[in-house]
Amino acid sequence: MTSYIISGGSGLVGKRLSETLLEKGNTVSILGRGNDSSSPIKKYKWDIEKSEIDKSWLKETDTIIHLAGAGVAAKKWTASYKKEIYNSRIQSTKLLYETLKNNPHTIKTIVASSAIGIYGNDSEKLLDESSPTSNTFLAEVCRDWENEVLKFETLGIRVVILRTGIVLSKNGGFVSEISKPIKLFVGAALGTGKQLLSWIHIDDLCMMYIQSAIDENMTGIYNAVAPLPESNETITKKIAARLHKPIMLPNIPSFIMKLLFGEMAAMILANQNVSCEKIQKVGFHFKFNDIDSALKDLFQ
Ligand SMILES: NC(=O)c1ccc[n+]([C@@H]2O[C@H](COP(=O)([O-])OP(=O)(O)OC[C@H]3O[C@@H](n4cnc5c(N)ncnc54)[C@H](OP(=O)(O)O)[C@@H]3O)[C@@H](O)[C@H]2O)c1
Repeated sequence: MTSYIISGGSGLVGKRLSETLLEKGNTVSILGRGNDSSSPIKKYKWDIEKSEIDKSWLKETDTIIHLAGAGVAAKKWTASYKKEIYNSRIQSTKLLYETLKNNPHTIKTIVASSAIGIYGNDSEKLLDESSPTSNTFLAEVCRDWENEVLKFETLGIRVVILRTGIVLSKNGGFVSEISKPIKLFVGAALGTGKQLLSWIHIDDLCMMYIQSAIDENMTGIYNAVAPLPESNETITKKIAARLHKPIMLPNIPSFIMKLLFGEMAAMILANQNVSCEKIQKVGFHFKFNDIDSALKDLFQ
């Protein structure tokens, strides 16, 4: 049994991961900004801007799962929201690092999120963990985030970073956003629709976090994507079929996406064929390899 604290544990991934860890008999608490009284899980507070953090978990916890960060698709990328996306990840990681550096604690492992946005938006090549990183805004966020997390190694703490693809869940995120217009008969593929989306079922992602926390041979960076990416058009049509709705509109052209979403359009239209070979080589077995098995589970 392991004792975990999950930063950003109130979010999409954190909630599912908490449930999974508790089902397996672990102790779980959450590090977050507010008091979510609806959750029975113990909650510790931090204020990243003020560099304030409740430290009472430090000697009761073995593993930090670091997920906190302002949603990258939650709002339009104004200058102030870009700052929030950046600071919520980099300043929060620095605060955790300084807290562990300057206080007695029992932490042995940190498993942190990053994102495949680090590779940029348009690559014909299969992207593995050694592929070049890009110079987009998201890539810069991910690179600085990862560099801050890797500093925990200097404290003798094992570090694993999961560069996460698009998370498929029935409780929010990508599937909900794609489903909304489809349900209103205004669903459409985006851009050419041919761009590859590297996705992962949320249950596989949770099992990856757990394997990363338990397997002491795992260190460093791993892509967290399913083995078989799929095109935007195919995923859109398959979700529509699961909802028993037609796709009647033509694809939304890229220039309209850019008018609507500005800089964020490039992320939405990204073409990324990301490899999961490295994590498979350390023994990770996917429950959901292909989009049909994932959607069947999510829409049952
Ligand atoms: N979902 C995806 O498709 C996907 C893909 C790639 C990478 N990721 C990364 O994986 C992590 C978890 O994803 P998720 O989908 O579970 O995210 P989420 O649902 O947006 O939850 C993230 C959590 O971070 C905390 N947070 C939000 N804004 C914050 C801010 N300004 N400062 C500090 N904390 C803040 C919130 O917790 P509190 O309110 O309790 O503080 C929130 O519940 C994120 O870092 C995300 O970037 C997700």
